[in-house]
Amino acid sequence: MTSRTALITSHATLQNKKALVTGGSRGIGAATAVRLAGAGADVAVTYVSGKEAAADVVRAVEALGRRAVALRADSADPVEAADAVARAAEALGGLDVLVNNVGVGVLGPLSELPLAEVDRVLAVNVRGVFLASQAAAARMSEGGRIITIGTCMTQRVPGPGGTLYAMSKSALTGLTKALARELGPRGITANIVHPGPIDTDMNPADGPFAAGQSALTALGRFGTADEVAATVAHLAGATYITGAEFAVDGGHAA
Ligand SMILES: NC(=O)c1ccc[n+]([C@@H]2O[C@H](COP(=O)([O-])OP(=O)(O)OC[C@H]3O[C@@H](n4cnc5c(N)ncnc54)[C@H](OP(=O)(O)O)[C@@H]3O)[C@@H](O)[C@H]2O)c1
Repeated sequence: MTSRTALITSHATLQNKKALVTGGSRGIGAATAVRLAGAGADVAVTYVSGKEAAADVVRAVEALGRRAVALRADSADPVEAADAVARAAEALGGLDVLVNNVGVGVLGPLSELPLAEVDRVLAVNVRGVFLASQAAAARMSEGGRIITIGTCMTQRVPGPGGTLYAMSKSALTGLTKALARELGPRGITANIVHPGPIDTDMNPADGPFAAGQSALTALGRFGTADEVAATVAHLAGATYITGAEFAVDGGHAA
């Protein structure tokens, strides 16, 4: 066992919980799946094209002694988005934690965003999250956790080109607060995490716009996927936090 593995297995607050991380083959989702497993959870991840990457995440979870399953499920498809929850619950034997991580980042001038792109972004970033949350809430019992990944651009849009992405992610804040109110009486919580610039395939720290993004944060750097995953894992174990927004953004909103 590496020292890092020892660190994340030392607080097994999610022992035997069953978790689904959508879009868990790469980036923040993959880091979250491993974090949750390190805290004791069995984990399902969805992917759409990254079969090999998803298999790597399954192996990483299994190396921590937990069960894992990778499910191909396109969140843009309403049937697949909802079915993924049922398939995960069936494979793991229940569902305690849903992490709505999947998202597509489409930026561009307002005048150049075609209808097909508007529909795709809303299908993945909004409708898919709603349907997964609906399906998860139907299966969860007391102690259930719904954690959604938003973006720092719901709090501060620092320049042009963010209309579609910021609009889609802002819908998730409303969803989260409404879920908290509706599911609170059943002992189920819902929270949203807003990452700042995080070094992933979607937004590489050596990409053409990286320096400008770093400069917008108080810490002057990109975050790592694991820095976001740590907050998600904390929320998965937290008992008196619901309807809340958490910026993991290096001070982007400060
Ligand atoms: N990186 C950032 O700077 C940043 C900042 C703020 C918020 N976020 C948000 O954080 C979340 C994760 O971002 P990331 O940077 O980790 O992204 P990423 O590196 O692009 O990874 C995206 C993940 O989502 C999966 N995915 C994409 N489209 C899908 C679909 N239609 N159905 C199912 N799975 C799909 C991908 O699977 P495949 O391997 O199959 O493609 C992959 O596992 C997103 O919601 C994003 O908007 C990211």
